[in-house]
Amino acid sequence: MTELLTIGALSERTGVAPSALRYYEDRGLITSERTGASHRRYSRPVARRIAFIVFAQRIGLSLEEIAGELARLPTDRVPSRRDWARLSRSWSARIDERIDELERLKAGLTDCIGCGCLSLDRCSLANPKDRVARRGAGPRFWVGDSRPSTTPGKPATHDA
Ligand code: FES
Repeated sequence: MTELLTIGALSERTGVAPSALRYYEDRGLITSERTGASHRRYSRPVARRIAFIVFAQRIGLSLEEIAGELARLPTDRVPSRRDWARLSRSWSARIDERIDELERLKAGLTDCIGCGCLSLDRCSLANPKDRVARRGAGPRFWVGDSRPSTTPGKPATHDA
């Protein structure tokens, strides 16, 4: 028999407020059983779903996207490692995208990001006269546009 946790115990273990747990349940992301007095009781494996929800949001997934992913897990039994592996396969691309974004962010902290400010010494090389504005709004190199090569004969580069 799977151990059942109160909402308080689950909140303490996961670091997620009881109000958020109730919200996730209302959205169908997690489920609980009810006692005779209608108190919620959660099976311990729910803790993994909550960890998944919290970190999925951190890398930019919406609750709808997360619900779509979690819906692929079996509901008639505790999901196995293999079940979670199936999820991670579709997730990997999203994580890689996020890693690229973060690496571009990191690189841009000391370099021209093609935002149009022309305020760094590097801007005159990477974005003379704000040439990248032609490609669209926003920090072009941060959103993934290639950075013109500053070395004669060398092709343009992408950050990360
Ligand atoms: S950092 Fe803004 S245009 Fe270079």
